[in-house]
Amino acid sequence: MNAIFPWSAPATPTPITRPVPGETLITAQELQERVAELGAAITRDYAGRDLILVGVLKGVFVFMADLMRAIHLPISVDFLAISQYRPGERGVRLIKDLDHPIAGRHVLLVEDIIDTGLTAAYLVRTLQARRPASLKICVLLDRPHRRLIDLPVAYRGFEIPDAFVVGYGMDYKQQFRNLPYVAVLQGVNGRNT
Ligand code: IMP
Ligand code: MG
Repeated sequence: MNAIFPWSAPATPTPITRPVPGETLITAQELQERVAELGAAITRDYAGRDLILVGVLKGVFVFMADLMRAIHLPISVDFLAISQYRPGERGVRLIKDLDHPIAGRHVLLVEDIIDTGLTAAYLVRTLQARRPASLKICVLLDRPHRRLIDLPVAYRGFEIPDAFVVGYGMDYKQQFRNLPYVAVLQGVNGRNT
């Protein structure tokens, strides 16, 4: 049994009745190293520009906290929140808007995961209508082969396989955001969900 994270899969084989974090996909150290590289690239690319990081709540808040400290420029941050896109529904809805205008500013949209791309595409449309000086995407985890819509990603942390992941801010039913690494969610009966 893991003493720090008692919900991790137990060492002794007991029946699993609800999904739990299984195999570690990206360790805390790998996350820190990659985030430092992304921060260095952003620092280089945006030197001398008025940069605002726009994060998509809630999944992004851990990544955002690390990324902003790896950017060595005067920047500001803002957040928006959305209702999840579900197939068959009309699309994503903004449930919390930005606190500040972005017109004329260089905007970097920061996301936890891009899967189909529908969420990010909606946000790009919404933010582009406000006439920023530029708008690019930075994503921690990308599943490019799942994309339904073409989307240019300027900064990408990792490509990941088609398995549901939790940790480092990302949740399953609001749980497991506080894991300091990224794990594959292990479903009931040991299957990946
Ligand atoms: P998309 O609109 O299909 O690109 O979905 C992106 C959003 O779905 C992300 O911002 C996440 O909130 C959520 N999401 C997609 N895959 C996962 C996952 O494996 N774990 C947790 N959330 C996920
Ligand atoms: Mg999310």
